[in-house]
Amino acid sequence: MVGAGAAGLLHTRLFATADGRRDGQPEKDGPYRGKSGPTTLPAEVAALEPLSMVLGRPTDKSVMVSVLAAETREGYVEYGRAPGDYTGKTGLAKFPAAAPTEVLLGGLDRDRPYFYRLQHREPGHAEFAAGPEHSFHTQRAPGSTFVFEIQGDSHPERPQQFDPALYVQTLRAAAADRPDFYMTIGDDFSVDTLGTVNAETVAQRYSLQRPFLALVAQSSPLFLVNGNHEQAAACNLDGTPNNVAVWAQNARNRLFPQPAPDGFYTGDTTTVPFIGPLRDYYAWTWGDALFIVIDPYWHSAKPVDNVFGDGPKTRDRWEITLGDEQYKWLKKTLEVSKARYKFVFAHHVLGTGRGGIEEADLFEWGGKNKKGVDEFAQRRPGWELPIHQLMAKSGVTLFFQGHDHVFARQQLDGVVYQTLPEPADPNYALYNKDAYRSGDVLPNSGRVRVTVSPEKVRVEYVRSYLPKDATAEHPNGEIAFSYELAASRPASKSSPTTSDTPAPAGRDCALATSARAWKANGPAPPLSSFL
Ligand SMILES: [Fe+2]
Repeated sequence: MVGAGAAGLLHTRLFATADGRRDGQPEKDGPYRGKSGPTTLPAEVAALEPLSMVLGRPTDKSVMVSVLAAETREGYVEYGRAPGDYTGKTGLAKFPAAAPTEVLLGGLDRDRPYFYRLQHREPGHAEFAAGPEHSFHTQRAPGSTFVFEIQGDSHPERPQQFDPALYVQTLRAAAADRPDFYMTIGDDFSVDTLGTVNAETVAQRYSLQRPFLALVAQSSPLFLVNGNHEQAAACNLDGTPNNVAVWAQNARNRLFPQPAPDGFYTGDTTTVPFIGPLRDYYAWTWGDALFIVIDPYWHSAKPVDNVFGDGPKTRDRWEITLGDEQYKWLKKTLEVSKARYKFVFAHHVLGTGRGGIEEADLFEWGGKNKKGVDEFAQRRPGWELPIHQLMAKSGVTLFFQGHDHVFARQQLDGVVYQTLPEPADPNYALYNKDAYRSGDVLPNSGRVRVTVSPEKVRVEYVRSYLPKDATAEHPNGEIAFSYELAASRPASKSSPTTSDTPAPAGRDCALATSARAWKANGPAPPLSSFL
């Protein structure tokens, strides 16, 4: 069982001591350390440790390039609309050792592919070395077809759930699809198993992901979603710069360019002392789709899920919240949007619990307490609707979540709840199956590919298998499950598809494939899981 609270039991203090040392705390497990030690970094990842680029914050006319060099370099980015034809270049910038530097590529045309490369040298040397060419795409116009991809919890700190070679397979396969952007859903930078917690060790959790995620993010801008194991959460603040929340959010924002409200993105306007803009919730449009990332961790006074250090979990889940400001922004963002598709992303319904639609009627997500009594009006005064009802009313197409470490497709009131698989679980496990009482549920590992076109959205679960585990029946890259959602939404609350009548061909195909996957990876689920 992947208990969210298990890791928290390792700690005896809520906050680290002044130097960050947790008394008597051994380092429980290190990043992708496993049984074979920390020397198992795949060659593709090791190659990006000296110098890597990660894209972020794409807009209609710009993209941010984060350059990270292990040794001090200087250089510039050259870019253009055709491969090898660089018509623009940035000014010369310094890239101090181990300090990410953001380089803005601006003045770009909307809805165009671009190609770029880094020219760099040791300071004082005459000759520049040209890096490999990468590409990206500026904001798509309505009516475009594009792909984005997303992974579930990667948990590199858990050897039993993370194989670096399998992660590389997933990321390289995603990169080969050339998605317009790549997303994670949280629990990618877990800090609560660190034996020693300080600014440096927390930052290492972000640094270790950097060369992995750069495999795809050097050509596909990266969007992050906050998870419970990041411990980037309001409840961990202590009024000083010396706490895990500040260390985690600063490392995150330093190593991965994330959006703050700027005219293209809307989102969190909160400025937190010792951090600045949080960049935790945000929204943007791309083609015919609205994308909304939400976050309860920075907006709940009490711990949302596992407690960092000692302490009881929050019993009254009404205390877990997006907060008034984020709710108002979410409501407005959903209601004013004319986008054909609306996608909402969070680590989990309410940021904790297990299951998808099984949790959707609870607390501020659905309005009821655990006994089924509707307490919404008194517990959320001024809120028109619980979050699920708001999503249903405003035509949300898909809600994406992680946390449960399994692929699951469910649907409620016209909203598809898509739970994401882990990208690199070498055991291909089926976690938390008891939490899902309906829907299509498949085990790890892989990623989800979403193709957005004017007529429909196609969602595919692309599995990853290590060479030793791939078979003729289950090759690496198999489409284990897929479904499509039509663009046109009826005026009623009916969904583009229903759990009973999705696109017939896709359903039949998906069911057959699912059944094979189950057969290969464990006992078959009850038939109701597929109905
Ligand atoms: Fe997780």
